[in-house]
Formats: sequence, structure tokens, C-alpha cells
Amino acid sequence: MCPKIQITAKGIRAALKKYAPHQSLIEYVWNGFDAQASIIKIDYVADALGNIDLLTISDNGYGIPHGKLQDKFEPLFESKKALENKLKKNLSAIHGKNGIGRLTFFTFARNASWKTTYTENKAKMTYEIYANAENINLYTGVNATPHQTTEQTGTTVTFTGIHTLTAPQMEDKFQEYILKEFSWFLALNRHRDFAIIINGVPVDYTKNIADSEKFELVHPETNTVFFLYYIRWDQRLNNEPSRYYYLNSEHKERWKEPTAIKNKGEQFYHSFFIESAYFDGFSFQSDPAQSQEALIAGTRSDTQFRFMRRKLANILRIKRRPFLKGFAEQLLLEYEQKKIISPDAKENLKQTIKILYEMQPRIFTSLNLEQKKLLVGLLGVVLESETRNKIPEFLATIIELSADEKIELNTIFCI
Ligand SMILES: Nc1ncnc2c1ncn2[C@@H]1O[C@H](COP(=O)(O)OP(=O)(O)O)[C@@H](O)[C@H]1O
Ligand SMILES: [Mg+2]
Repeated sequence: MCPKIQITAKGIRAALKKYAPHQSLIEYVWNGFDAQASIIKIDYVADALGNIDLLTISDNGYGIPHGKLQDKFEPLFESKKALENKLKKNLSAIHGKNGIGRLTFFTFARNASWKTTYTENKAKMTYEIYANAENINLYTGVNATPHQTTEQTGTTVTFTGIHTLTAPQMEDKFQEYILKEFSWFLALNRHRDFAIIINGVPVDYTKNIADSEKFELVHPETNTVFFLYYIRWDQRLNNEPSRYYYLNSEHKERWKEPTAIKNKGEQFYHSFFIESAYFDGFSFQSDPAQSQEALIAGTRSDTQFRFMRRKLANILRIKRRPFLKGFAEQLLLEYEQKKIISPDAKENLKQTIKILYEMQPRIFTSLNLEQKKLLVGLLGVVLESETRNKIPEFLATIIELSADEKIELNTIFCI
């Protein structure tokens, strides 16, 4: 047995104090997706004044087997669970990690009950669990006797005695909140009929899209096809950083990891979905124990993988450019203040520094004062000389320039 740490009701309240009602609600939505549900329904009934009498969150997941209830619903921080989740950090399927999400209802309701249906020995079984805010961690349910049913598996959580949550809030702020929480997840599972339906209306993740593009990328030597879907989000996502998601030919996520972009505080919130049959057997972790299998299945050192990543990084570099304009101005000011560039330097030198920064900020990030002076000085000399028209050609050897960028550089340097 793994060591467990018991937490008290007081401890739970203290740990959950920071949860706002909207955050609490989404914990129950995540619990549905964690149980492999594809459809989550949120339904509520409000009176004329906007007070909500009843709110339910139901999912079509695998339910909570009664035999496992004690283990699952015990208010424990389980070290084993923490460990398991650490291993799963590269998959979106499991959101829950601290084992307290189901207790957060007290921030907006006095009572919660779970009606759950699961499969046992090919039969569908159902039972109910009740909890209330005074004794958050006391459940009736362990003593319940499950009985057979014809219903599909899934769980419906019903909240009553609702406070600090009104119908106008649900229509306005909660809609916005749920988009920020789930738009990437709905986009990730867009080919698998996933949905969050609020009072009959499905949440539309495309409402949070500021810019998007679909590409097909083929690695010529191996004929590997990658289907790319780039999204830039209008609103910053709640807890999900900008990531690459790799999906297999069944549209299922196999792995996720941060994109190459080191955020400087610009509003460039993005997700990049890459789907390919190539990922069906791909080995994402470089585990030496798996190397034999990996030889057949594909690894990160494959030319097609490296090719794809290079293309993706370049697409992001180009998409990000407009967001760096302000930072480029700042850089120039800083260079003037530190006397790296003289305030009365020629306009084309200033322009060149700004463009280079927007194109590839990395060039400037790790330079010390001397290196900055050297770079700026040399640029100044080249710009004065006839060879300046060689700059675009030279840059093309280190940065994969877009057609627009080539034209831009030609107009600056070749006149
Ligand atoms: N809707 C649900 N469907 C199936 N299992 C659930 C559901 N809600 C909760 N559970 C079970 O109860 C456990 C505790 O849930 P929760 O308190 O949210 O913690 P966590 O999600 O971090 O594990 C879950 O791990 C899961 O096993
Ligand atoms: Mg949870």
C-alpha cells in the first residue's frame, strides 16, 4: 500500500477557499471527461429573478463502480495518484490530480448528489451518493445497494441549495470562462464528437479563435503526411499553455508538449494540432528500454519528425511576427539608452535591427553588451557598402523566409 495522508473537513475548506463557483463547476465537467465521456451536459432551471434552483452536470463516461467508491471518494491525497499523474502530464485525457475536485461544490451549493451507472459483469448497475456542504467529506453511498438498470453508463451530479450563482452569470461570465477552459480541448477532440452542452446549446470553441489555418505537410523523402491545424486564441486559455498536440490516425491525442515559443508577454496564445498515421506507433519518450520497438515505430530523431518540427517552428515564427513589433521598438530604445546604437544612426540601420528582431528574436536574446555592439557595428558597416544587397540571400540561409519576407527584405536592402 502507498502511504496516504488524511485531510480533515477544515483542511478541505482551506484548500478549496480559492475556488470561485465557475472554477468549481468546471471541476465536475473535467471529472466527466476524465471518465472518458464525450458529451457533458450542464442544465439549470432559474426562476424569474434569475435564481437557480437546480443545476445538473451529466456525462456519458464509464461511471463510478461501487466497489471502487470508497477508494475514489475518500478525501485523501494519494501519493500514488500524484505519481501517476506526473507521468500523464503529456496527455490531456486526465485533468484531475489532487483528488478534491468533487468537493468544490460547497462554493456555490449546499447539496450535491451523484447518480452513477457503470458496467459490472456485462450488466449496467446504478446507485446514488449524497453529500452536503456542512460535512463535505461525508458521503452516503458506500452503504447504497446498486441495482440493475437499462440506462447507459455515466454520471449525473445534481446541485441544490444554490447560492452565489445566478442565471445571468451563467449566461454571461460562465460562457466566457468555459471557452477559456475548454476551447483547446474541444478543438483537440473535434473529430471525436466531443461536446459541452449548456441548456441545450453546444459550446462553440471557434468563438475563441482569432486566427486559424489548416495545412497539409508532406515530407518528400518518406511521403509522410501531416495534417496541421494552427489556432491563435482570442482569449488567453485558463491553464493550458501554447502547445503542440500530436494525434494518431484515429484522431486521438498521443502526446503534447510546449511549442518552441518563449513567451515574452505578447498576446500570442496558440495551439498547434498535428495529425498523422505516422504517430500511430510513434515513441515519444526516448526510453532506452523501448528502443527496440522504437526502431520500428519511429522516434524524434527520424528525418520526417525533424522536418515537421522545423516547418512548424517556422510557421509559428511567421505567425508571431506582428506581435513582436512593440518589443522591437523597445529593443531599439534600450540599445539607444545603452549607447549600443547612436541616437542619430541612419534610419536603415534602425529598421534592419527591428526587422531582424521581429523575424527571429532569438538572435538578440543571448548577446552580452560587447556582442550587441559588435553586431550593430558590423550591420552599420555592411549597410554602407555595396554588399548590402547580399543580406536577403544570406538571411535566407539561416532563416526559412516566407515569400512576403523575401519581398520585404529586397525592398529594404536592394535599392
Ligand atoms: N463523473 C465522474 N465519473 C466517473 N468517476 C468520477 C466522476 N467524478 C468523480 N469520479 C471519481 O472520483 C475521483 C475523485 O474525483 P475528484 O475529487 O474530482 O478528484 P480527481 O479528479 O483529482 O481525481 C476521480 O478520480 C474519479 O475516480
Ligand atoms: Mg476531478
